[in-house]
Amino acid sequence: MTLRQGNPSPGWDRIYAENGRFFTQPHEALPEMVNLLKARSLRRVLDLGCGSGRHLVPLARAGFSVFGFDNSTHGLLFAREDLAKEQLKTELQLGDFRNPLPYRDGSFDAVLSIQVIHHADTKTIERVVAEIGRILAPGGLLFLTVPKFRNQATSFRQIEARTFVPEDGPEKGLPHHYFDEGELRELLRGFQIFSFNVDSATHYSLFAWHVGSDDERLPR
Ligand SMILES: C[S@@+](CC[C@H](N)C(=O)[O-])C[C@H]1O[C@@H](n2cnc3c(N)ncnc32)[C@H](O)[C@@H]1O
Repeated sequence: MTLRQGNPSPGWDRIYAENGRFFTQPHEALPEMVNLLKARSLRRVLDLGCGSGRHLVPLARAGFSVFGFDNSTHGLLFAREDLAKEQLKTELQLGDFRNPLPYRDGSFDAVLSIQVIHHADTKTIERVVAEIGRILAPGGLLFLTVPKFRNQATSFRQIEARTFVPEDGPEKGLPHHYFDEGELRELLRGFQIFSFNVDSATHYSLFAWHVGSDDERLPR
């Protein structure tokens, strides 16, 4: 396992440094994701914004080839510690999704990104989704959650439509984009959404297949 260098984020890095592992239980849809991956023999999985690794550990334990990407050094260090306890092999990358993702085209069979890509403005989010499409193989699986409600602070500064910066609370200073369903579906027009829900954290939660150029690989 390697933890290569990049620019740490002040916001979440501080949250992990001060509070330790922020989330511990995996997302409620993880068993469904594992079943889908196994049913399609999908092996290489990227957790984009993996934080302290609550999904890396069970995915690596289940035998997938697992990659984690985040811009929090402290989050990744917790993940590395938990993975090492069980001698689980993963590739961790410190990096910022506002830059091009450091992976080759079609590198992954699946990408999960849970409560991550909303930490940006609309243009950046569109670029990240394009990057996910680039690194995901045709027929690959996307699992994404993003917030619909504004609840991270009591006071916000609005920087564009639906994007706000909390002025207090633990995520002070970090942009938050709050989605509506139509916008999210339009953003994911290159994907075939087959499950769309609101999860127990009141985030939109969806599964989608990547509709690539190679129709042969698309699940039926
Ligand atoms: C709400 S936490 C979710 C963590 C993890 N997905 C989970 O479900 O436990 C948001 C994560 O996004 C990461 N993040 C925020 N902005 C980022 C950026 N620009 N590049 C990479 N990671 C980022 C944070 O460091 C943090 O780990």
